[in-house]
Amino acid sequence: MHLRSLASVLLLCGPALAAPTKDRCPAGPNVPSPDSLGALQALHYNNLAAENNGTSAVLVYDRLTKTKAQERCASIGESLFPFESAPEASRTELVYQLDYLVYAKDLRPDDDVWVAGSDECLAYSRTKKQTYSASCSSKLPAICTSRVPPTTDVNSTVVTSSKIAVKSNEYTLTGYRDARSFRFLGVPFADPPVDELRLAPPRAYSGPRKIDATKFGSPCVQAGYDGNVSEDCLYLNVYTPLLPERPGAVRRPVAVYFYGGAFVSGAASEIEYDGGNFASRNDVVVVTVNYRLGALGWLATGNLTTGSYGIRDQILALEWVNKNIAAFGGDPAHVTIFGQSAGGQSVIAVLSSSAAQGLFSGAIVQSAPVDLPWYTREVYSSLVVPHVASAVGCGNATASEASLLSCLRSVPASYFLGGSSGNASITSAIAQDVSENYLHVSQLIANIEPYMPMIDDSGSGIIDDQFHTLLAKNALPNSVPTMFTTVTDEAISFVNAVVPNLGSAQSFLNTLLGVAYPAALAQAIANSTAFPVNPSQNDSVRITGAEALTHSEWVCPQAYLLRNAVSNNPATFPALYEVEITKGHAGYAGLPEVCFPNGVYNATCHSNDVLPVWGTLNSKPQGVPTYYDTQDWLHSQLLNDIFGAFFRSYDPNPNTEWLRVRGPAYASTYQVFGEDEYRIDQHNPRDETLALLGMPPSTTQNPGLTEKCVVFEDYGFTFENAELTV
Ligand SMILES: *[C@@H]1O[C@H](CO)[C@@H](O)[C@H](O)[C@H]1NC(C)=O
Ligand SMILES: *[C@@H]1O[C@H](CO)[C@@H](O)[C@H](O)[C@H]1NC(C)=O
Ligand SMILES: *[C@@H]1O[C@H](CO)[C@@H](O)[C@H](O)[C@H]1NC(C)=O
Ligand SMILES: *[C@@H]1O[C@H](CO)[C@@H](O)[C@H](O)[C@H]1NC(C)=O
Ligand SMILES: *[C@@H]1O[C@H](CO)[C@@H](O)[C@H](O)[C@H]1NC(C)=O
Ligand SMILES: *[C@@H]1O[C@H](CO)[C@@H](O)[C@H](O)[C@H]1NC(C)=O
Ligand SMILES: *[C@@H]1O[C@H](CO)[C@@H](O)[C@H](O)[C@H]1NC(C)=O
Ligand SMILES: *[C@@H]1O[C@H](CO)[C@@H](O)[C@H](O)[C@H]1NC(C)=O
Ligand SMILES: *[C@@H]1O[C@H](CO)[C@@H](O)[C@H](O)[C@H]1NC(C)=O
Repeated sequence: MHLRSLASVLLLCGPALAAPTKDRCPAGPNVPSPDSLGALQALHYNNLAAENNGTSAVLVYDRLTKTKAQERCASIGESLFPFESAPEASRTELVYQLDYLVYAKDLRPDDDVWVAGSDECLAYSRTKKQTYSASCSSKLPAICTSRVPPTTDVNSTVVTSSKIAVKSNEYTLTGYRDARSFRFLGVPFADPPVDELRLAPPRAYSGPRKIDATKFGSPCVQAGYDGNVSEDCLYLNVYTPLLPERPGAVRRPVAVYFYGGAFVSGAASEIEYDGGNFASRNDVVVVTVNYRLGALGWLATGNLTTGSYGIRDQILALEWVNKNIAAFGGDPAHVTIFGQSAGGQSVIAVLSSSAAQGLFSGAIVQSAPVDLPWYTREVYSSLVVPHVASAVGCGNATASEASLLSCLRSVPASYFLGGSSGNASITSAIAQDVSENYLHVSQLIANIEPYMPMIDDSGSGIIDDQFHTLLAKNALPNSVPTMFTTVTDEAISFVNAVVPNLGSAQSFLNTLLGVAYPAALAQAIANSTAFPVNPSQNDSVRITGAEALTHSEWVCPQAYLLRNAVSNNPATFPALYEVEITKGHAGYAGLPEVCFPNGVYNATCHSNDVLPVWGTLNSKPQGVPTYYDTQDWLHSQLLNDIFGAFFRSYDPNPNTEWLRVRGPAYASTYQVFGEDEYRIDQHNPRDETLALLGMPPSTTQNPGLTEKCVVFEDYGFTFENAELTV
C-alpha cells in the first residue's frame, strides 16, 4: 500500500520528492484558492454502504452568470452538473442535498442553481422541483460535477485538477478534493521533534510557508508498523465539507481525533480514520493528529525533561486548530476532542490539563481503560529509564542525567524502534517492573500499556493530576459536555490472544482469575456470584474471565469515577452521557476469532466500534471481511450520526428534523430517533439503565450499580492502590 502511494506522489511531483519532507511538492502557480473561487461545498450523498456510489458534486456559492459559473467549475477541474441526463437516483440525491443546505440556511429557499442540460442556460428550481431555461445573465449559485474518486484505501489518488490552496495566517496549504470532502493531509503543526527536541516539548511549526498537504506525514516511530515510520511525524490532517471565501465566513463544528494504540502505536493516516465520511454525512470538519509514541513519546529521564511529549503534541495540535481551522470552514469556538482506547485516555489527559483550557468545548472518551493511573516522574526514573537506556545502548551513560539525556538524544531513532517502542522484550520488562513496584497488579494488566503519560509536578499544567484526584478535589480544569463509551466485550481479544479455549470448568476460571488479579481479589471474585461460568457454554472460562477484565479495567472504574464526580459537583460535566456499544466490526485481520461472527460467541471486541463510528466500513483496511449483514451499515449510520450530532450540539441525539430533511440515506436513524422516539438520556450514574447502542438500540442495566462492580470497588481500583514502592 505504501509503495503505491509513494508511486502516486512520484508521478505528481517528480523530482520534488528529493526535497525535504516539509516542502515536497510545492503548490504550482495554477492551483486555485477559495479567495478567487468563493465558498465551495463538497457534496456527497453518503449512506456509508459498500457501493460508495452516492452522488458527488461541488456547490459554488458565489452568484454568477451562466458563463462565469461554467468557468468557475472548469477552474476546479469540473463542469456544470448534467442534471437532465443524470440518473434519476442522482437527481433525487442532489435535491436532498439542496434541501439540507436550505435547512442549514446556507442557501435561501428560493435559490435556483445553474446546472447543465439541453438548454444553453439551464437552472434548477428547488421550489418548482424542475429545471427551466433561465436568462443567461441571471446570477445564481452553481452545481458542478465532482468526478474525483472516493478514498477507499491508503493509496488514494490525487487528481491534480482537484488541488486547491488555502491561505491561513502566513501559510499556504495545498490540498485536494476526493469524492467526499476537501482534504489537507500531512500538515506540519510542529517542527520535527529531533535532536534537542527529542524527549522535549514540541515547538510550533516554523518551516517553509508553502505546504504540500496532499499526502500524509509519516507515522511516529513504532515497532510493527507496515510501512515507513519517522521521528519527523508531527503532522495533522484536515477533512472539510466546506471552504469559505475568507477565514471565518462560514463555520462548521470541528472534531479532533487522537488515535488509540496503547501509547506505542497508531497513525492518523490509517484508513479507518479517513474523515471524509464524517465530513460528507454529518457536515463537520474532522482533524486527525499524529502524536509521539513509545519511549520517544513519554520517557522522562529525571529532572531535565518534562515527559508527556505525546500529550503536549496533542495540545499543540489543538492550538493549531484554534489558529487555523477557520480558514478550512471550521469554528474554532466549537471543537470536540475524541479518541478511542489510548486516544480516549488522551482525551482524559487533555480534560485534565489546564494548559488546554479554551481550546475545546466538548469531549468523547471511547473505551479508555481508566483503571490504569498516569505514571509519575519517579516511576519513570526508577522503573522505566534503566530498561530503555540499556536497550538503546545508553546503559553506560547513566553517571549523570545530563550524560544519559545526551546519549538518548544522539542515538539513531531506529534504536528506539527496536529497543523500546513496542519491542516485546523491553516492554514486558518494563511492565513487570511497573506491575510489581507501582501498580501492584498482574503483569497481564500492566502489559496493556507499559508507557504512559505522566502527571505534571512542575506546574506547567500538562495533566494537572491523576483524574480521580482532580474529580475528588473538584479541580478538573476543563468542564465540557462529555460522552463516555465502552464496547460490550472490551477485554476478550486481549484474553483470547494469550489464553487457549479452556472450556467451562470453574476451576479453570479460578486459575485464570489468579493470573489476572492479586490473590485476594481473585479469591473475592471467585467467592462472589458476579462472574459465574456457564457450564453449557463452550469457551465459558475465557468469556467469563474477559468479562471480569472488561469490568475491572473499563466499566467499573469509569462508573465509580463518574459517580463520585457527579456527587461531588454535578457541574463537573455540564452534560454527561454514558453509552455501551454492543455491535461492531473487527478493524483488522489477525484478531482472535471471537471478534468476527463465529459459532460460539459474537463478541464486540475492543476497537470494533472504530470502523462503524467513522463510517469507514466503505473504505476499510485489507484483510477484513465486508459487511457482515445489512444491520452492519445501518449500525454504522446510527453511530456516525450519534457522534455527528454530538459534534454539532454536544448532544448525541440527532435533531429529528435534521435527519428527516436529509432523506433516505438517513431514514434508518430517523426511524430510531424520530418514529421510535429513542433517546440517549443524560446520564446520572445512579440511573438504573444505560443506552445500549446495538441495531436497533435499546437500554441495558447500568453495570456500575451491579454486583459485578461491587467486588472491584471493595478491593480498590488500580489507581487507588498505585504507589511507588522502591
Ligand atoms: C490501490 O489503488 C488501485 C487503483 O489505483 C486499486 O485497484 C487498489 O485496490 C487499491 N488498493 C491497493 C491495496 O492496492
Ligand atoms: C447505489 O447502489 C444502490 C445499490 O446497488 C442503489 O440502490 C442506488 O440507487 C445507487 N445509487 C445511485 C445514486 O446510483
Ligand atoms: C521506506 O523508505 C525507504 C527509503 O526512503 C524506501 O526505499 C522504501 O520504499 C519505503 N518503504 C515503504 C513501504 O514505503
Ligand atoms: C531530581 O531532583 C530531586 C530533588 O532535587 C532529587 O531528589 C532527585 O534525585 C533528582 N532526580 C534525578 C533523577 O536526578
Ligand atoms: C557507551 O558505549 C558506546 C558503545 O560502546 C560508546 O560509543 C559510547 O561512547 C559510550 N558512552 C559513554 C558515556 O561512555
Ligand atoms: C528487542 O530488543 C532486544 C534488546 O534490545 C533486541 O535484542 C531485539 O532484537 C529487539 N527485537 C526487535 C524485534 O526489535
Ligand atoms: C467448542 O466448540 C468448537 C466448535 O463447535 C469446537 O471446535 C471446540 O473443540 C469446542 N471446544 C471445547 C473446549 O469444548
Ligand atoms: C472466600 O470464601 C472462603 C470460604 O468461604 C473464605 O474463607 C474467604 O475468606 C473468602 N475470601 C474472600 C476474599 O472473600
Ligand atoms: C454470529 O453471527 C453470525 C453472522 O451474523 C451468525 O450466523 C451466528 O449464528 C452468530 N453466532 C452467535 C453465537 O451468535
